[in-house]
Amino acid sequence: MSIERVPVALGGRSYEILVGAGLIGDCGALMRPLLKHPRTIVVTDANVAALHLPALLRGLDSAGIAHRAIVLPPGEETKSFAHYAKLSEEILALGIERGTVLTALGGGVVGDLVGFTAATLLRGIDFVQVPTTLLAQVDSSVGGKTAIDTAQGKNLVGAFHQPRLVLADTDALATLPPRELRAGYAEIVKYGLIRDPEFFAWLEGHGAALLAGDAAAQRRAVVVSCTAKAAVVAVDERETGERALLNFGHTFGHALEAETGFGDALLHGEAVAIGMALAFDLAAALGTCPGADVERVRRHFAATELPSRIPRPNGRRFEAAALVRHMRKDKKMRDGRITLILPRRIGEVVITQEVPEETLVAFLAERLAA
Ligand code: GLY
Repeated sequence: MSIERVPVALGGRSYEILVGAGLIGDCGALMRPLLKHPRTIVVTDANVAALHLPALLRGLDSAGIAHRAIVLPPGEETKSFAHYAKLSEEILALGIERGTVLTALGGGVVGDLVGFTAATLLRGIDFVQVPTTLLAQVDSSVGGKTAIDTAQGKNLVGAFHQPRLVLADTDALATLPPRELRAGYAEIVKYGLIRDPEFFAWLEGHGAALLAGDAAAQRRAVVVSCTAKAAVVAVDERETGERALLNFGHTFGHALEAETGFGDALLHGEAVAIGMALAFDLAAALGTCPGADVERVRRHFAATELPSRIPRPNGRRFEAAALVRHMRKDKKMRDGRITLILPRRIGEVVITQEVPEETLVAFLAERLAA
């Protein structure tokens, strides 16, 4: 099938997101025009390496691109200072120059770490994103946010550093566990909810098929999501305004992830899904979103089995005040006030600092008791 090309318009740093089947195998031919020297250093994790590294390396070989590969341990712990230092030194030991290009093959962890490493090695070298998870294809590989985690929280040390190219191979989605696919789907639903009611309506008709593996539906959803993200990033690369809307569901979501320890108990996309459901519930409680829209969103979450309830890992019930404490540490905090993104209707959200903390605590206490 043909390749769809989504441009990200950022002047001299513009690039394309290519979406299609089999792009991992075609990576050499697709990357070659970008490379000053036919050489790249591929960084991936052990899980992704087993599934996709041989095809990627064959693709590089067939275009005459020399390569070295570095395989990291899988998991969020890899987005750490320790792994960043080790990776940087390993890459430097291979002997690089400003024209060297890194290739990030994997999900959000690999993309964020490799992107940050590319941003800082030799004060900035190029990198190519080859996202293999749905979440990375529709969100984290696009837009140049790169980061590692610290003891104080997730993504607190990072840089805006755009990739030179994103290759979203939709064949890779067939290898994802259903839970990972659903977690990525949450970010797709987000684009419908924040800015595109027609897309949300399309997802109501096709979301279940997409999650069941319908390749055409997956491809369309990846293209629409990347087009939406590219449009937002083009007008607000460094999140001084509109880009913050992409964090819909994330303030609640990050608080839940922080309480669960950012591990497998709650995947990022699952936390975002619950966060979006909470945002609709809160808007309903505040009377700022039509009840019919809230019901429609609830129905779609139920139909696609997106999580919408606050989890109780091992039966433990979270404290509302503890969740709000995490929300206070959010990067979007302004003048000591919690920033929330709340729906006005399906397809329109607003940024607000107007919800008092007591209201938030009471709302969450009520949801936790439900
Ligand atoms: N994931 C939100 C953003 O890239 O801005």
